[in-house]
Amino acid sequence: MDLQSQIEDKKLPQHIAIIMDGNGRWAKKHGYLRAIGHKKGSKAVREIVEACAKINIPFLTLYAFSTENWNRPKLEVETLMKLLVSSLKKEIKTLQDNDIKLNAIGNLESLPKKAQKELLDVISKTKQNKRMTLTLALSYGAREEITKTIREISLKVKNNLISPLDIDERLVNEHLYTNNLPDVDLLIRTSGEQRISNFLLWQIAYAELSFTDTLWPDFTKKHLFEAILNYQNRERRFGKTSEQL
Ligand code: IPE
Ligand code: IPE
Ligand code: MG
Repeated sequence: MDLQSQIEDKKLPQHIAIIMDGNGRWAKKHGYLRAIGHKKGSKAVREIVEACAKINIPFLTLYAFSTENWNRPKLEVETLMKLLVSSLKKEIKTLQDNDIKLNAIGNLESLPKKAQKELLDVISKTKQNKRMTLTLALSYGAREEITKTIREISLKVKNNLISPLDIDERLVNEHLYTNNLPDVDLLIRTSGEQRISNFLLWQIAYAELSFTDTLWPDFTKKHLFEAILNYQNRERRFGKTSEQL
């Protein structure tokens, strides 16, 4: 039986988040410049997005550029921003064909104007789509997000719009970039690194973690299905005992 048909519909993760890592090492391994690794990595994105939509994953979030990635060499940052613009232009068709809505999280104002414009354009053109929400984390850092949340809530308290006693988990959630997304069920990181790198710290509180040595440009739907099948064999207890479930 093929992998896809082994996936149980009723235990499908509602929100998959992926740290797409290893483009640079993929390029090095094949004797190419890092830019080629990023290009190859952007091709891998399409297969995974389409596969998630096909098996009815409602929310997929991809870590494409972190707040810390601004510290990379200027040329690499420029390459990544150009690749973002060209991918958005090219992939709008994939999004429309698969009924996918585009969403973005992060400090989007820090992106180059051209990238912001293209992003907003694709978000607006796909806003009616229903099958899956694809969220790109761009210039995203969880600490920046949490700091922004604290600033916004403090301002509300200062202006007497709310009392400190009104601050609960729901309110914090409402101020996060991810306020329209459910918690992450399955977090996948490629390339062998086992760290979170400032991604969705609040939202992964009870996520199942899946690490693979596969470099992002080599990550295919076969790897995705393996991660989902493995997820489906785990017992998520959320603090309870096994007997209580
Ligand atoms: C992931 O690949 C892409 C981004 C972080 C933008 P890397 O560029 O981090 O690849 P490695 O980790 O150097 O192999
Ligand atoms: C995490 O990868 C960010 C993205 C995949 C966009 P990095 O390659 O930047 O992470 P570190 O620096 O190795 O932790
Ligand atoms: Mg990396």
